[in-house]
Amino acid sequence: MSTLGKCIDLLLTRRSVRKFKKEPIDMNTILRILDIARWAPSAKNLQPWEFIIIMDRNTLRDLGSLAFATRPLINAGAAVAVVVDPSLAPITYLVDGACTTMYILLAAHALGLGAVWINALRYQDEIRKILNIPSDKVPISVVALGWPAETPSPKPRKKLKDLVHIEKYGKKLKY
Ligand SMILES: Cc1cc2nc3c(=O)[nH]c(=O)nc-3n(C[C@H](O)[C@H](O)[C@H](O)COP(=O)(O)O)c2cc1C
Repeated sequence: MSTLGKCIDLLLTRRSVRKFKKEPIDMNTILRILDIARWAPSAKNLQPWEFIIIMDRNTLRDLGSLAFATRPLINAGAAVAVVVDPSLAPITYLVDGACTTMYILLAAHALGLGAVWINALRYQDEIRKILNIPSDKVPISVVALGWPAETPSPKPRKKLKDLVHIEKYGKKLKY
């Protein structure tokens, strides 16, 4: 497959993986992922993000026990919390943080790891407490990482023709 084909394949085959093998992930693999994540785009290149690597089983269990949605963290090999600084990028910190989170998901997939984005915004006070995050910083996501123990089928997507407008909102694609 061409490099271009491989890149597109990577984008189209990523799935949210929520079941992981017990095998640990080594620190170098996580650092490699984060070394890629720092290349995500950000408004004015402000890079208003920091990363917390979580490998401690008790911490993963505490985060995973917050809600049904956070449960994949309980059996994850490791996790990365993406923390953003609203004072550095007041308008764009959320989208900047989303960009780097997406890079983490794609880099993990490229390395054969499974990953799922856990919505930290919904449990930010609890997550701040568990991870000792200062009150002026926002945990935007926690990415659960691990060697995949499931191969999820693709989740349905809306049809392209229902999403696209031509030139102005409301003029739909005809095909
Ligand atoms: C902003 C955001 C928040 C998400 N929060 C959670 C979550 O808290 N728990 C979870 O299991 N999955 C979470 N997901 C994963 C979505 O459920 C998943 O991306 C979606 O169902 C599509 O499936 P796919 O990633 O396999 O294509 C989140 C994804 C995004 C982008």
